Amino acid sequence: LARLKARLRSGLRQFPDFPEKGVLFEDIMPLFSSHALHTDLTRALELQIADVFQTSVGEKSKVDVVVGLESRGFLFGPTLALKLGAGFVPVRKRGKLPGEVAEETFKKEYGEDVFQMQQDAIQKGQKVVIVDDIIATGGSASAAGNLVRKLGGDLLGYVFIMELDFLKGREKLDAPVHTLLSGQEKGVELPL
Ligand code: PRP
Ligand code: MG
Repeated sequence: LARLKARLRSGLRQFPDFPEKGVLFEDIMPLFSSHALHTDLTRALELQIADVFQTSVGEKSKVDVVVGLESRGFLFGPTLALKLGAGFVPVRKRGKLPGEVAEETFKKEYGEDVFQMQQDAIQKGQKVVIVDDIIATGGSASAAGNLVRKLGGDLLGYVFIMELDFLKGREKLDAPVHTLLSGQEKGVELPL
């Protein structure tokens, strides 16, 4: 896992002054455009989850549902769900999902946003892991966790590719948080 993480770290690209001046943008897309890195990423996430949530890779997993957050959580959530033998369920931004939905409002850098899940997307007691690319302030992840619990899911925890430690987002979350890479090691200032 350590070797995989080192390769992933070296695959990230940083863009200074994007999307605005003074912000160092951490670009995760190279982890998908290279087949080798994409393979490494998938393997690292699978191992991480197997490790921390005691699921066994290749056998029936204890994770029932992987929940991915729109939109970058959709890049790898379904792949991971396949690998773990779990289902995949999306958390979407308001107005995208049909039928009965549950929703949570959360704070963004400017203003508010609303996340929704379909009411019947998770069965009571199903074991859920929430995944996303980056945890910054933790606002998105915290709202997603509330939604999963509203639907009766048993939230095992969160897995992120990268954490911006200095923003202390994990303090907003009341389930275990696991990340592959730390933004601080690279001197990242802001995520988006
Ligand atoms: C980014 C990122 C995380 C979230 C982290 O998504 O992909 O989902 O922000 O921020 P937080 O911890 O402060 O809530 P964004 O809302 O920019 O949208 P995208 O995934 O659709 O690009
Ligand atoms: Mg996002």
